[in-house]
Amino acid sequence: MTAQQFRLFGGMFILVVIATGVASQNTRSFTIVNNCKETIWPGITHGDGFNGSGFALKPGQTAVYTASSNWNGRIWGRTGCNFDKDGNGTCQTGGCSKSLNCTVPGSPPATIADFTLGSPDYYDVSLVDGFNLPIVITPLKGKENCSNAGCDGDLRKNCPQELALKSSGGDVIACRSACEVFSTDEYCCRGTYAIPETCHATNYSRAFKSVCPVAYSYAYDDPTSVKTCSGADYVVSFCASRNGTVCSFHDSSLACGGSTGFRTAIPGWLVILIISLSLVLRTK
Ligand SMILES: *[C@@H]1O[C@H](CO)[C@@H](O)[C@H](O)[C@H]1NC(C)=O
Ligand SMILES: *[C@@H]1O[C@H](CO)[C@@H](O)[C@H](O)[C@H]1NC(C)=O
Ligand SMILES: *[C@@H]1O[C@H](CO)[C@@H](O)[C@H](O)[C@H]1NC(C)=O
Ligand SMILES: *[C@@H]1O[C@H](CO)[C@@H](O)[C@H](O)[C@H]1NC(C)=O
Ligand SMILES: *[C@@H]1O[C@H](CO)[C@@H](O)[C@H](O)[C@H]1NC(C)=O
Ligand SMILES: *[C@@H]1O[C@H](CO)[C@@H](O)[C@H](O)[C@H]1NC(C)=O
Repeated sequence: MTAQQFRLFGGMFILVVIATGVASQNTRSFTIVNNCKETIWPGITHGDGFNGSGFALKPGQTAVYTASSNWNGRIWGRTGCNFDKDGNGTCQTGGCSKSLNCTVPGSPPATIADFTLGSPDYYDVSLVDGFNLPIVITPLKGKENCSNAGCDGDLRKNCPQELALKSSGGDVIACRSACEVFSTDEYCCRGTYAIPETCHATNYSRAFKSVCPVAYSYAYDDPTSVKTCSGADYVVSFCASRNGTVCSFHDSSLACGGSTGFRTAIPGWLVILIISLSLVLRTK
């Protein structure tokens, strides 16, 4: 595992401490946080310039990767996986060709965090391939619009019956897209429905949107879902609140972000103080 992993300190405030070297201007850091009660296996599409691929992340753990500043790709979570020591195995949701290290996108249904880095970056959380885990994207230290994207609601609890994917035990483990289930041109926005004038929200995409208002629910759902930001690092949190605060420490400073746009840089010594304090609190 190339990632550095740390246990988090509980509560609303997620402190992510990264002791990486000095990041170059041509890279961005991606901090992946598992706030879920279960282990997840994040997957990252390979492509030029992303230092990561697929790995296990236990509840409360964090992994940090660097991407080149022109990286395009997706990050998603796999659930219920079983891998052997060679990294071969399967997952209940989101699996990528039976491999721990993803070289192809995960299979639906899966919630997807999409990134197109550039100037500015474009990012969104998409439910077009269904939903398996809540994902929130928080930009840090960015300039210009930079707001949080994603969904902290849980569509597994609100999934229309006919879209629900259930485990053998009967629990809803994911919510499939109407396109995947019914495969009609209207639900899939293809054929005569392939253009913005004809591809509209459907009753199913509206049901998704009501639980996840800042997520992409159908092919042309850009205005309310796709966010832009310049020069940011990103925190991709699974099962976290959209209005929570997340922080990341690198280049000797602590950067924090949240839906209120709160941003700050705190000197390194304070971070060490916070960490020491958190450790003290944790041992109690
Ligand atoms: C990936 O990260 C590891 C550890 O942080 C580092 O040693 C390695 O050089 C990185 N690889 C790339 C391609 O950035
Ligand atoms: C299991 O993993 C090994 C090493 O990564 C690989 O060579 C092999 O093809 C894999 N087996 C299966 C069945 O995928
Ligand atoms: C994952 O697979 C890619 C492509 O085969 C490879 O470059 C990368 O080193 C692998 N990562 C790990 C952690 O095995
Ligand atoms: C920021 O958002 C506003 C309103 O949505 C938009 O008009 C403007 O072009 C955006 N700025 C950038 C740099 O994306
Ligand atoms: C959506 O519309 C279809 C066709 O009109 C209907 O069969 C289905 O029950 C509706 N589903 C929901 C969740 O409203
Ligand atoms: C965050 O949102 C949750 C509901 O999603 C709410 O219960 C909580 O009070 C909010 N916290 C803050 C700090 O606004």
